[in-house]
Amino acid sequence: LPVVGRLPDYVRDPLALFTGVARRYGDVASLPLGRMSMWLLSHPDDIERVHVHSVRDFDKGYGSDDPFLGSGLVNSEGEFWRQQRRMIQPAFHQRRIQAYAEVMVRRGRQLTDRWSPGAVVDVHAEMMEVTLAIISETMFSADVTRDSGAVAMALDMALNAASGAGESGILPAWVPTPARRRTRVAVAALDEVILGIIAARRARDVADASGGTSGEVDLLGMLLAARDAEGSGMSDRQLRDEAMTIFPAGHETTSNALTFAFLLMSRHPDVRRAMAEEIQGVLGDDDLVPDHVARLPYTTAVLKESMRLYPPVWVVARRARADTEVGGYRVPAGTDLAMSQWVVHRDARFYDEPDRFRPERWLGGTWRTGTRATPTSRSGAVLGSASATPLP
Ligand code: HEM
Repeated sequence: LPVVGRLPDYVRDPLALFTGVARRYGDVASLPLGRMSMWLLSHPDDIERVHVHSVRDFDKGYGSDDPFLGSGLVNSEGEFWRQQRRMIQPAFHQRRIQAYAEVMVRRGRQLTDRWSPGAVVDVHAEMMEVTLAIISETMFSADVTRDSGAVAMALDMALNAASGAGESGILPAWVPTPARRRTRVAVAALDEVILGIIAARRARDVADASGGTSGEVDLLGMLLAARDAEGSGMSDRQLRDEAMTIFPAGHETTSNALTFAFLLMSRHPDVRRAMAEEIQGVLGDDDLVPDHVARLPYTTAVLKESMRLYPPVWVVARRARADTEVGGYRVPAGTDLAMSQWVVHRDARFYDEPDRFRPERWLGGTWRTGTRATPTSRSGAVLGSASATPLP
C-alpha cells in the first residue's frame, strides 16, 4: 500500500496501530500515513526533550488555518503564541480556579441530584452535559444559557466532524469532503453564538461606566481585559479563536476523564468503596472546596490512574523547525513527530502491570520511574519507507 501506507489501520484503530508500531519498532519509528509520514516517539526522555528542553527546535505544526480552533493557544506558534499565552495566563491563576470551583461543585451537585439509586444513566452524555455547563458558565457567565443547546449541538458536530476526518490524510485540503462540509456548517453556527456573545459583552462594557470587563470573573472577561506590552487588547477574531479553543479543550477532555473514571469504578467496586469512604471522612455533609483536594490522596490517585489508562488526549504532535536530533536519530527539518500518551502509559518499562487499574501505584512512591533504554537496544524506524537515520 505505497500510497496510503498505514492509513487504513489508523482509521480502523489508531491506538492499536501506534502501540503495535512502538512495541515492534522501538522508541523512534517512522510511520507512513496517507500523504504524511510521521515519526512516533515513545520514550519519555525523548518526549521530554521535545516538550521541555528543546522546545525552540519544534513547532506544533497543527496549522492556524484550522476552521474550528483558528489561531487559539493550541494551534498558535512562536512569539505570537508566547504573547497570547502571557495575556491569557491570569485566567488560569490559582485564585481564578478557586472561583471556578464553586461553579464546578454547584453544577456537579445539580447533576447528581437528578440521579437516584438504581437508575441507569448514560454517563458519557451526562459528563458531556455537565462539563459543557461548567465551561460555558466559567467562560461566558450566564451569557450562554440562552444558546447552550445550540452551542452543545454545534460543538458536538464540529468535534465529530474533526475526529472523523481520516480522509484528510489522503485528500488535499481543498477537496470538499462530507466531513469538511459538516465542520463548516457547525463552525458557522458556533461562530454566530460566540461572536454574538463577544459583541454583546463589548456593548455592555461601553455602556457600563463603572469599569467594564475588568470586573468580570469569567474567562471571557479576562480575555477581553487582557493587554499586551503595548497596551493593546485582542481583536474579535482572536478572541473568538481563543474562546473556541478553550471550549473543547476544557469540555471534551474533562468529560472523557470523568467518564472513564466512572467506567473503571463500576468495574472495581473495592476502589469505589475506598474512594467514597475517603470523601465521606473528609467532607462529611459539606460541599467540596478546593482546600479539601490535598486531603483526598486516594481520590486523586483514582483520577490519575484513570487518566493513565484512558488518557483524555491520547496523542500530541510537533514538527521539527530545523534539522535536529532525538533519541539518537537525526531528525530532518519538517519531520512530523507524534507522541502518544496511550502508548507510554501502557509501557511495562515505566508502569508495573501497565494494563491493571491500580490507583495505589500513585501513593507512597510505589510506582516505578522509567529506566532509559540503551541506545543500542533501540530498534529504530523501519516501517514503510523508513527515513530515520541512527547517529554514528
Ligand atoms: C483532563 C483534562 C485535560 C487534559 C487531559 C488536557 C490535555 C491537554 C494537552 C495534552 C494539551 C497540549 C496540546 C499540545 O500542545 O499539543 C493541552 C493544552 C491546552 N489545554 Fe488542556 N487538558 C485538559 C483540561 C483543560 C481545561 C479544563 C482547559 C481550559 C479550561 C484546558 C485548556 C488548554 C489550553 C488553553 C491549552 C493550550 C495551552 C498552550 O499551548 O499554551 N485544558 N491540554
